[in-house]
Formats: sequence, C-alpha cells, structure tokens
Amino acid sequence: MSHVLAAVAWPYANGPRHIGHVSGFGVPSDVFARYMRMAGHDVLMVSGTDEHGTPIQVQADAEGVTPRELADRYNRVIAEDLRALGLSYDLFTRTTTRNHYAVVQELFEGLHRNGYIVPKVTTGAISPSTGRTLPDRYIEGTCPICGYDSARGDQCDNCGNQLDPVDLINPKSKINGETPEFVETEHFFLDLPALADALRQWLDTREGWRPNVLRFSRNLLDDLQPRAITRDLEWGVPIPLDGWRDRPDKRIYVWFDAVIGYLSASIEWARRTGDPEAWRKWWSADGEGKDARGYYFMGKDNIVFHSVIWPALLGGYSGEGSRDGEPGALGRLNLPTEVVSSEYLTMEGRKFSSSRKVVIYVRDFLERYDADALRYFIAVAGPESNDTDFTWAEFLRRNNDELVAGWGNLVNRSISMAAKNFGAIPPVDPAGLTEADQALLDTARAGFATVGDLIARHRQKQAIGEAMKVVAEANRYLSEQAPWKLKGEDDKPRMGTILHVALQVVSDANTLLTPFLPHSAQKIHELLGGTGVHAPMPVIEEVEDLDGGPAYPVLTGDYTVGARWESVPVEAGRPLAAPKPVFRKLDPSIVDEELARLAG
Ligand code: MF3
Ligand code: ZN
Repeated sequence: MSHVLAAVAWPYANGPRHIGHVSGFGVPSDVFARYMRMAGHDVLMVSGTDEHGTPIQVQADAEGVTPRELADRYNRVIAEDLRALGLSYDLFTRTTTRNHYAVVQELFEGLHRNGYIVPKVTTGAISPSTGRTLPDRYIEGTCPICGYDSARGDQCDNCGNQLDPVDLINPKSKINGETPEFVETEHFFLDLPALADALRQWLDTREGWRPNVLRFSRNLLDDLQPRAITRDLEWGVPIPLDGWRDRPDKRIYVWFDAVIGYLSASIEWARRTGDPEAWRKWWSADGEGKDARGYYFMGKDNIVFHSVIWPALLGGYSGEGSRDGEPGALGRLNLPTEVVSSEYLTMEGRKFSSSRKVVIYVRDFLERYDADALRYFIAVAGPESNDTDFTWAEFLRRNNDELVAGWGNLVNRSISMAAKNFGAIPPVDPAGLTEADQALLDTARAGFATVGDLIARHRQKQAIGEAMKVVAEANRYLSEQAPWKLKGEDDKPRMGTILHVALQVVSDANTLLTPFLPHSAQKIHELLGGTGVHAPMPVIEEVEDLDGGPAYPVLTGDYTVGARWESVPVEAGRPLAAPKPVFRKLDPSIVDEELARLAG
C-alpha cells in the first residue's frame, strides 16, 4: 500500500464545463483514482474551481456581476456536473477559501525568502480609452517566435511558448481592437533560470511519462526566462510583502495561485478530517510522505504549468535551486511523479467553442444521456494520447453496439436465464467444470493483472479494451454453450454450471469495469444479489470556511468502502430477480436531433 495523490486540473469558474474539458482532466483522473483505491492504495484526489485572474474578471464584466458572484455561481454548477459524472474527489474545493489564500502566501513568502522571487520594473499594457490595465490574454498579435498571427499576450497556442504582451508584433486589444499603450509597472518574477538545473535533474529521473509530454517539457527547460508572477489586477490573492499587501491594484498571477491549490486543498482536506497534519503523507519529501507518488491530470495546454512552474515553486520553496535556501514552514515538498496530460477532444470535426456554440455542456449531456454512456465513450475513444473527435454518430454506435449489445446483453441474459430457471445463482454441478468453463474463468481472472497494470500506467484505452475482451469472450462462451437448449431435467445441472460460470465472469468483468463505469457497476452488483456499496459516489456538502470566510459547497465522499480489485466468488443459492436493463439503447434519431441542436 502506498500514498497516491491524484491531482486534477482546476476548471475555471467562468462558465459551465463541456465534455471536452471533462474528457481531458475529469474522467481519466477518476478512473485512475478509483482503480488505485480498489487496489489498496491510500488515494487523495483533490481539485477545485480556479476562480481568480482575468478569465474570471472579464467574464464577470461581461455578465455585469462581481468576480466573486460569478465564481460563486459557476463553482456550484461545476461541482454539480462533476458529482453527476461520479468523479470521486476526496475534496473538490475552490481557490477563494481563506485556507487557500494562506497557503499561497506561505509559498510566495518562502520562495521570496529563498531568493527565487525578485522584483522588476516592466512594461504593462493599458487601454488608452479607459485607462484600465489590459490583461495579457486579452491582447492579441503575431507571435515573435513562430509568426502565428493570433497569439495571446500570455501564451502562443500555436508553438506553446509563454509570451509577454510587449513582445507581440502588432498587438491589439481583443476587447475593443485598439492598440494598447505600454507603461512602466513593477512586478515580481519567479527566477526560473536559478531553478533550471534542479528542474532538469528532476525531469531526468521521470519514468513512464507519455513521450510527447516528456519531450515537450524538456524543450521548455532549454529556454527558461524569469516569469512574472504578479499582475495589475484587483481580483486575486494579495502579495504578502510589506508595501504590497494592501495595494488594491496588484495581485498574484492566477496560475501561481491555482497550481498551489493541489497543496492547499490537501491541507484543507486534512483539516476537515480532524487530523490537520494528515496531508503530509502525500506531500512531505522527508518523513512520512517520502514514498508517496503524485499524478497530475490535465489537458495539454496546461503542461508548462505542471512540468515547469509547479515543480519550480515546490523546489524553490524546499530550498532546492542554485540559490539554496531553507525549506519553509511546511517542510520540503514532493515534486510531481508524473504529469499525465491528454490531447484535445474536438466536436464533429471542430474545436469546442462556447462563443461559436460548438459545444455540449456536461449538464445538458447528462439531462439526455447516462453518465456511464459518456464515461464509456471517453474511455474508449477519448483523447488519451492523440486528438480525437466526438461525433454523435460514433457516440450512438459505441453506446448501442458495444455498451448495450456487448456488456449490457451479457449481464442481462446471464442474470435473466439464471433467475428464470433457478431463481438464484445455481451451483456448479458435481460433474465439475469443462475445459471451456475453466478457460473462461481463467481469462476473466487474468484480467485483474492486465487491466490494473494498464490503468496504473495511464493506458486507459487499452485497459478498457482488455476488459471488453473478457466481455466478448463470455458472450462467445454463452453462444457456444447455448444453455437455453439444455431444457430437460437431466440437462439442468449442466445448465446451472454454465450459468454459474457466466455469472462469475459477469461479476469479475463488472469489477474490471468499475473504475470506468461506476454507476452501472453498482447496479450490476445489486442485480447479482450483492448488498452495500460497490462503487462509492461523491456527494456535495455545504461547509463553513475553516477560517471565517463565506460558506461554500464541496464535493467529497467516503471511498473507504467499495469493491476491491479482485475476483470474488459468486455464492450459489443467492436469490436472483429478473433484471431491469442497466444500459439504455438510444434511438438513431438522436444523431439528427443533436446535430440540429448544434446548428442552432
Ligand atoms: N483553470 C485552468 C484551465 O482551465 C487549469 C488550472 S489547473 C491548476 O486551463 F491546477 F493549475 F489550477
Ligand atoms: Zn508561437
């Protein structure tokens, strides 16, 4: 048993999330966390809504509300969506808690004390017509590195480089098209060059990363410049230094505060469990957390923040760069074990875009379809290591031909035949098992090692493929053995054996599929006569802020209960009732309906 941190990217609280978002950070992290728990590891899965910075400020301005009101609204919407998807966070919180502010400021101070945060006078953009600061990402121009003509002031989406607005060729405000004016302004910079050697040493010892993620991260280290980590903005975490603390116009950069959320949420979780030091089991590089592993889940546009910025903050705070220094009050902290980044999901061949309405929001999706139907699609056809496309036709096909006709059919016919003929799980006939019976049982049992290993190595597509092979084998077995033909009294014992074997394999396959399809796994567990929690589910709780701020909802759960990653013998004699179908077959007309909805 070991301590495993599942650190999941924090969605911006500036709107509802669409299925592209949850296919990158959401479902894969939950599959991993559920499997690791079932395999006996001590998993801590944390995240929350990312509520600061210009993304929130600009949307708040657009909706005519304060950033806080906007964040309150979408924090709730997003938490509810993630709950409905069954994502098993130990704590899904938010970045506006007092605890988060305190932890962010502690890291900032520690890094500053160690000499990794330095002040610098720079140029900032203001809007000539309003006199207000123009946020970096609302300036657009030509990338000075690759020549892409719609690079943003903070980052070029074409070459992935971090930019400063002043470097853009021909900068324009995205808000009103005017040419920004650049003025002098003082900011704090993270001295990344002083941490470059430490980062390279850490990256060189990483194993098992997806090759493109490792390559991309290595390239980023080749050209590290100091990065501004404060902004001219009113909305964010105040800078915890004398002379800065009370300035209303300067805040910590949203990405600096957001990545620290992994740590602050772990601390919040520990404080809420009544053992305020418990977070150290996942974080302390010395002592109890030193063997812990941390896996970070996100889409590929987030890689730089997780494989460069976040390890730099952790290393600098721990006193590990070329300026040395002392670890801060939280002690030396663990750097990520692995950055598990996915690629992009597109929708009917196009990029998701809320403004252009190329989108399906999680909430709307779940109003019409089941959570496990979406989880299944993401697992088998999601953007694990290549960009992939969501189409309604493919969703229909995967749901009807694979989930319903493959897995649903196996569950349904095995249980209904046993219920009808025996009213219970039949025993194995004293004549014993045939070779075919044994072969199928062995195949299912071998799935635990194969599927588990693939999930642990973030090969979820292959993993669910292996689980579905067990399902296919079992369907073939039933067709070959044709227990429905064994009608006579003499044949009944053999019929019972076949159904016993089939039900054992249904039970095993159900366990193998539990990380992917937890809602249906619980139902199938009950159809097999099981009681209690098989696949634990998250709940939303309204909680008080631990340090006197406003109350808020969190997503949490008790995941100590539930199935283990092992074959459990089905019990002969356990009563069975005629099953209700677990999966819904969809009418092909949904494809045209959904396409019409997309077209507006
Ligand atoms: N809010 C960011 C986005 O949606 C992700 C932040 S991940 C964090 O792209 F953990 F660093 F916060
Ligand atoms: Zn570029």
